[in-house]
Amino acid sequence: MSKFYKIITYGCQMNIHDSEKIAGMLALRGYAETQDEALCDVIVFNTCCIRENAEDHAFGNIGALKQLKKRKPSLIIAVGGCMTQQQGEAEILREKFPFVDIVFGTHNLEAFGILLDRKLSTGKKVVEIKDSAGKIIEGVKPFRTSYPNAWVNIMQGCNNFCTYCIVPYVRGRERSRALINIFAEVNVLVKSGYKEITLLGQNVNSYGKDLGDGTDFATLIRKLSEITGDYRLRFMTNHPKDLTEELVKAVAENEHCCHQIHLPLQSGSDRILKLMNRHYTSEDYLEKVALIRKYMPDCAISTDLMIGFPTETEEDFLDTLRVCEKVGFSSAFTFVYSRRRGTPADKMEEQIPEDVKKDRIMRLVDFTNGQTRDFSVDYAGKVVTVLCEDFDKKKGLYMGRDEYGRMGYFSSERNVIGEFIDVKVTSVNGISLFGEIA
Ligand code: 5AD
Ligand code: SF4
Repeated sequence: MSKFYKIITYGCQMNIHDSEKIAGMLALRGYAETQDEALCDVIVFNTCCIRENAEDHAFGNIGALKQLKKRKPSLIIAVGGCMTQQQGEAEILREKFPFVDIVFGTHNLEAFGILLDRKLSTGKKVVEIKDSAGKIIEGVKPFRTSYPNAWVNIMQGCNNFCTYCIVPYVRGRERSRALINIFAEVNVLVKSGYKEITLLGQNVNSYGKDLGDGTDFATLIRKLSEITGDYRLRFMTNHPKDLTEELVKAVAENEHCCHQIHLPLQSGSDRILKLMNRHYTSEDYLEKVALIRKYMPDCAISTDLMIGFPTETEEDFLDTLRVCEKVGFSSAFTFVYSRRRGTPADKMEEQIPEDVKKDRIMRLVDFTNGQTRDFSVDYAGKVVTVLCEDFDKKKGLYMGRDEYGRMGYFSSERNVIGEFIDVKVTSVNGISLFGEIA
């Protein structure tokens, strides 16, 4: 008889890829994926704690499974990811949700399969939260579901301790994978037909620092350029303080690298950047932008922005808008600062009132949406090459991104998922391009 699982993922791309690894371990044990919870033998929550609302969602959804578990006691409910790795969280989960069968931390991800085996053989609740991350564990085969795109972790953890951020506490210190292992993984993906590979890390610009042999991110980008084939390479996330000229050159010289760089600014106010422990000023940031444009004048630069950091004034907020104006971002993820237990910013006295945060986020979203629209506004009549990644059932059109990250929609008689398609843009609607095969 078939066994089924569902994984519910919160948070960033890193977590989505971690879920592919969990899915790999389930597939190895004969489970198949379903979205129907009533059919499930195993339900896994891969949680995120970077902002309060991600945590609240997870709590709500875990709680909602209580009835299903009552009706089907054999159902195994597992909770893992960043949320469980926070101090004291396992106890909170135990009290709030006694029906959860497996609790595992970020540092125990690769052991998930073994923890499941243990639960099945003993019937006892399993709680495994390692305090610190060990060496990177190789060999967990992800179950990929996003063809023609594939994600590849190049490192784990973060050393930066931005004062608002919980990631270094729950993901541990930076650990880089050996270059040869990354090379082998990307090579196999390209040779087996994947067309867009995204290298993942909390700060890919510090890749290699812990390897101690002089390897850095630029070395990796240059090495990967030896992989031949019809594919694109992207990477995220970057930290402005660690983005070097050597790296920008390596990216510009690798014909597979998309001319798109995600460079989180967070704030345009030097005072706030200092309080955030970001180690750059708005001027430094603009210099990095100039450096990127020196080698890749067409490069799309996207960003993360945060409003409402403790003590942020109207003037600080306007500084953020001013820097955005100077850069001309292709797109931006916008966040309301959210207090995270145990971080230095949480202890700062002057937190910003909710109504002020609400007002600023609305103005910021308005502004950045305008920039994103500007980025695509001139595209009617042009031909763009998109990598077709899916068929949008609602629109009845195929969809794919160009190298700069714009989404293009078009119709096709045959299935073109996984192909690079030249699309002649006939109209632009907000951030989306519509067109026909050229
Ligand atoms: N509150 C709001 N946004 C946050 N981010 C990180 N921590 C917080 C927090 N406490 C945002 C940052 C980061 C992105 C991944 O999430 O902008 O770049
Ligand atoms: Fe968090 Fe800063 Fe590390 Fe990014 S660089 S994960 S924001 S601590």
